[in-house]
Amino acid sequence: MKRFSRITGTGSYLPAARLSNADLVARLASEGIETSDEWIVERTGIRARHFAAAGVTSSDLGAEAARRALEAAKITPKDIDLIIVATSTPDMVFPSTACILQNKLGANGCPAFDVQAVCSGFVYALSVADAMIKSGGATTALVIGAEVFSRILDFKDRTTCVLFGDGAGAVVLQASDTPGLLASDLHADGSHVDILCTPGHVSGGSVLGDPLLKMDGQAVFKLAVGVLEQAARTVLAKAELKDTDIDWLIPHQANIRIMQSTAKKLRLPMDKVIVTVDQHGNTSAASIPLALDHGVRAGKVKPGDLVMLEGVGGGFTWGAVLLNF
Ligand code: ACO
Repeated sequence: MKRFSRITGTGSYLPAARLSNADLVARLASEGIETSDEWIVERTGIRARHFAAAGVTSSDLGAEAARRALEAAKITPKDIDLIIVATSTPDMVFPSTACILQNKLGANGCPAFDVQAVCSGFVYALSVADAMIKSGGATTALVIGAEVFSRILDFKDRTTCVLFGDGAGAVVLQASDTPGLLASDLHADGSHVDILCTPGHVSGGSVLGDPLLKMDGQAVFKLAVGVLEQAARTVLAKAELKDTDIDWLIPHQANIRIMQSTAKKLRLPMDKVIVTVDQHGNTSAASIPLALDHGVRAGKVKPGDLVMLEGVGGGFTWGAVLLNF
């Protein structure tokens, strides 16, 4: 019998501290940086974001999201035989955030590793888990996106620090006789490393280079709108489906204008797009599973719905996953 993979549970977690645009404007003003709620809302659609308390790590947020996904799937940590964590803000240089999180869950023994593809990390990780399940290498995978981007923000750079937030989302992906994940399409173009990066690294006991996020927003914007349509068309063609068959588009939550442009190209009204960027900001690899979980718990995304997930981010990386929920 053919083996497929299917999402059987979702979960998410946001740190308690919520900063509205007004809160952030006040915080930046105290450091002489000028911005406004109007500018942020008009250019990005963002109204609020969550920031983790000092000492809280990606594995803390990811473990909480994972517990909620396990509960939704009605399984225990002992049932998991694969953990993949997508993150660009790992707890340590090594070991992986996945190993640290595995220990927090008490799921010790199964393979656990991180995927680093910035804001495309979750679609990359989900595609890898799907391939491992289809090949018989795993049966019950936990796929997590977890980030504390607040740690790498330059609060003197208003062009980036207003955009990002912290959070985590998780799914349980299990072997199934019926198709869940239908098709995926992943890409990277390393010639664009410089347009979105955090160049600092540890060398000889010191941090070399700038450890804070740098972005050429306009260059990212232009690339993003083109590749997101391309990736969506590719997975639809692989699954022999058309854009109007999509029940829910869940794109990476970076900017409402990119999401509106993608929806328009795919002939989807905005009420078929799950939008959380307004409340979460850009949570990088966590944004898609966070939005998926919010869509599920709001009663929007239902079993059997055709869902398009789309990621795009630093690398430059991008990709799409089409699935029957
Ligand atoms: N508050 C007030 N003014 C600001 C702010 C701010 N926070 N930031 C910039 N400005 C000013 C600029 O200085 C500029 O002023 P000037 O015209 O006097 O020089 C003006 O606003 C316009 O700046 P632009 O950079 O042209 O603004 P733009 O409309 O391009 O919006 C933005 C910027 C929101 C970053 C947009 O380019 C964008 O969303 N890009 C894509 C980001 C993205 O999708 N990232 C996804 C991947 S993230 C990842 O992988 C980690």
